Amino acid sequence: MKVVLGVGGGIAAYKAAELARALMDQGARVQVVMTASARQFIQPLTFAALTGNKVITGLFSSQSPEDVLASSVEHIRVAQENEVLVVAPATADLMAKFTHGLADDFLTTLYLAFQGKVILAPAMNTAMWEHPATRDNVERLAARGNFILPPEEGLLACGTTGAGRLPDPQRIADAVVTLAHPRKDLDSETILVTAGPTQEAIDPVRFISNKSSGKMGYSLAHAAAARGARAILVSGPTNLPDPYGVEMIRVRDAREMRDAVMGKLKDATIIIKSAAVADYFVLNQSTQKIKKTSARLSLELDPTPDILAEVGRNKGDRLLIGFAAETQNLLEEGRRKMNTKNCDMVVANLVNQEGIGFESDRNKVTLVMSTGEVVSLPEAAKHDIAHQILDHAMRLRLAIFSKA
Ligand code: CTP
Repeated sequence: MKVVLGVGGGIAAYKAAELARALMDQGARVQVVMTASARQFIQPLTFAALTGNKVITGLFSSQSPEDVLASSVEHIRVAQENEVLVVAPATADLMAKFTHGLADDFLTTLYLAFQGKVILAPAMNTAMWEHPATRDNVERLAARGNFILPPEEGLLACGTTGAGRLPDPQRIADAVVTLAHPRKDLDSETILVTAGPTQEAIDPVRFISNKSSGKMGYSLAHAAAARGARAILVSGPTNLPDPYGVEMIRVRDAREMRDAVMGKLKDATIIIKSAAVADYFVLNQSTQKIKKTSARLSLELDPTPDILAEVGRNKGDRLLIGFAAETQNLLEEGRRKMNTKNCDMVVANLVNQEGIGFESDRNKVTLVMSTGEVVSLPEAAKHDIAHQILDHAMRLRLAIFSKA
């Protein structure tokens, strides 16, 4: 995907650097265009280093006759070469100019020449955001087909609290990918994904958990939504922002996760259980913080409900995909889990390897299918792996249906 990132002049301009990075992590090629006031907040060099592309800062960057000629049509070239224009932060001034078609710098000129998808992420002080002039402009831009990603509520740089904060860059990147994704092949699916660890409380401040970051499951839910599916994500505690366009259900422990999954099961056509659910919970959980003494302390653990197995018993004609996080015997364990839990596919990965798996942005997985097929995917970014798992899931379902 080819994206132009327009950076406006606001305090949130520094977050645009993280946005450029997040877009590139999702496989986008990013061309940055900065306004003159954006350059007061952040240096073009930062974006050039991050994207590996020259940053465009003005309509006429050179005085030589050839260069003047080339730069006079550069906004047309950039408009034609890119599929998405995302402006973050979109200031009140930029949105006013876009609304009225003013074209006094590169970004506003590009806006007029651009025929692809336009996504605006406004950020400003609450009073400016709520001013009738801004409200009018936002309404007119939205009516024109520009997509407005509304600012979030929170503490603003000016010291006040209210609406006006730029959303998390990861969430903006997710929205860009979802809104501009060319494939909508999953638009008749409801994909229920679980992600993250669970936390099994010992007392009000302590818990038993594991190293799962949730990234694989979040990537799956995001990829499903981007391809047109209704995506429902049941997530244990993670540090990740809610993926754009995904229905979120946040839970804490295995029993809550079980209830959330079983509650949504009837809606789902595909269930993907990537969560690293704790196998035990603490039976003698304390309602008060446990005080240190010199005596030995024993925790009594009871098995948590096996959600995958329960879904397997009740799945009907839904496609069920389990995960197997292993430290050895990958294929045997994958096959065993597929058979005992009635899965159609198990995504097996080794979690004791440097740089992939738990906590990492990359993964290397082997897909074990109920048809007997085994596919080892090459190591790749988790968002890439997510799309490949969905591709194989659709292919597998066709194979199962045509055999039935
Ligand atoms: N799982 C589940 N409920 C549990 C435990 C695991 O739904 N209480 C699911 C996970 O979401 C994953 C799959 O089961 O899809 C395998 O998880 P894993 O921890 O690898 O396997 P276990 O069944 O716990 O088996 P083992 O401990 O023998 O490896």
